[in-house]
Amino acid sequence: MNYYDQVAEAAGFLRAMLGPINPRIGMVLGSGLGAVAGAIAYPIVVPYAEIPHFPKSTVEGHTGRIVAGYLGGVPVAAMQGRVHYYEGYTPHQVTFPMRALGALGLRSVVLTNAAGGIAEGYKVGQLVALSDHINMMGWNPLAGPNEPRFAVRPGAGLRFFDMTEAYSKELRALAREAAAEEGFPLEEGVYLAVSGPSFETPAEIRAFRGMGATLVGMSTVPETIVARHMGMEVLGLSCVTNLAAGLSPTPLSHEEVYEAGQRVEQRLVRLLERIAPRMAARVETPSEAAEREL
Ligand code: HPA
Repeated sequence: MNYYDQVAEAAGFLRAMLGPINPRIGMVLGSGLGAVAGAIAYPIVVPYAEIPHFPKSTVEGHTGRIVAGYLGGVPVAAMQGRVHYYEGYTPHQVTFPMRALGALGLRSVVLTNAAGGIAEGYKVGQLVALSDHINMMGWNPLAGPNEPRFAVRPGAGLRFFDMTEAYSKELRALAREAAAEEGFPLEEGVYLAVSGPSFETPAEIRAFRGMGATLVGMSTVPETIVARHMGMEVLGLSCVTNLAAGLSPTPLSHEEVYEAGQRVEQRLVRLLERIAPRMAARVETPSEAAEREL
């Protein structure tokens, strides 16, 4: 079976499992940020292992299930746990779940991650909205034949497409407003993706800073690329879980990353509860909006 048909089958399975829930927003919850799933009301939980062709996460702290339900009153589908290239998955496997969310009809996604802070002044536990990214993974998930049928909007699904606003400026503005209401500032940053799994060397971090990166991590960028290929709008949120290599007196560990994520997840929950209705309003048809207001 070809890749497109596999994605269609996975999406068809999800559609059947979700029953009455018709998600408006997709979310990917990064390392240690899974608590958002616990805040979803009337949840329907689908383990990745049950979804046809879905890759299964092998990293601790990445649960591996889709939780669909209501956040801030909006029907959402959240991926609790993602798969990474460093686990041995191919670029197509890494981005399979995003393709499935697109095939489910989602046009707006929030991608969250744990990241190392490169910019001076970042504090552990801070949330940062991505304004742009730098792909240093050494690959692009769209290599290979183009598949225009993945498009979720007219004009999307092209072989070559614009990435000037990979992360929606308007969604960033919504997020900033929501953060201000919660009483914290939301800075913007540039996320640089490496393939991992080793953390960076201090020399790499110095080089990345010179390139304009303020955050470093091992995910998100492939998902953003396929989301933009499909014509979805993307909000990227990083949690600074540690200072990048060479900037902190202590060596980096996965535990540190995971625990820092856990410390901010309640803040992330509140932020997303505020953002969800505003994001939904941008992609809903009038009848969907009326249905949600009931
Ligand atoms: N480097 C790469 N990935 C990460 C880091 C880091 O410092 N922190 C969390 N994910």
